[in-house]
Amino acid sequence: MIEFRPLAPPELPRLIEWSPTPTFLMLWSGPFFSFPLDMAQLKTYFASTQTDPPIAHVWTAWDGGDPVGNIELGNLDKRKKTAHISRVVVDPTRNGRGYGGAMMRFVVEFGFKTLQLDTITLGVIDFNLRAIRLYERLGFVKEARYRDSCQVGAGYWNHYVMRLTRQRWEDRA
Ligand SMILES: CC(C)(COP(=O)(O)OP(=O)(O)OC[C@H]1O[C@@H](n2cnc3c(N)ncnc32)[C@H](O)[C@@H]1OP(=O)(O)O)[C@@H](O)C(=O)NCCC(=O)NCCS
Repeated sequence: MIEFRPLAPPELPRLIEWSPTPTFLMLWSGPFFSFPLDMAQLKTYFASTQTDPPIAHVWTAWDGGDPVGNIELGNLDKRKKTAHISRVVVDPTRNGRGYGGAMMRFVVEFGFKTLQLDTITLGVIDFNLRAIRLYERLGFVKEARYRDSCQVGAGYWNHYVMRLTRQRWEDRA
């Protein structure tokens, strides 16, 4: 059974293990972190999520005592009732076992039911078909494509912003 617990400092080194290459790090965090990921960046990130009131919720997904993934619901705007999912990563040795789907369903439900949001957005690299398929299955729709938004070595990657409205989520339930 998959459990979700707020990200805690002892789990931070795991995110370094899960970021073995610059391209993999870019895939799950965009230009937010720089390679190699290190504890200094992660401590700054962790501190930025500990505001009161919270502007972000970050969870570790656990399966049978093992951390298997990380996901954030950030950019919380209570007035606009919006938030943005980011830093979605499953332990690269455990892909394709349903963890990503479970993490996304948990966070979307938390956003719409607990936080009473109206809209949730996310960003995804345009060739990340596994992630795009997962998001589309949950009802997310591609809204805009941003060209050359992520620099990787000498090249640039594009990303989509995808959006899910509460109405669409309820209609599909
Ligand atoms: C994207 C990611 C979060 C998905 O997590 P996961 O645990 O592997 O996903 P799931 O097992 O829940 O499967 C998700 C869907 O992708 C599908 N899928 C698997 N491999 C695929 C591939 N190569 N191409 C397209 N779809 C694929 C699965 O079949 C499943 O769809 P289905 O249920 O309709 O069959 C995970 O692979 C990951 O961490 N990737 C690297 C980082 C990343 O890309 N993060 C997303 C940032 S936006």
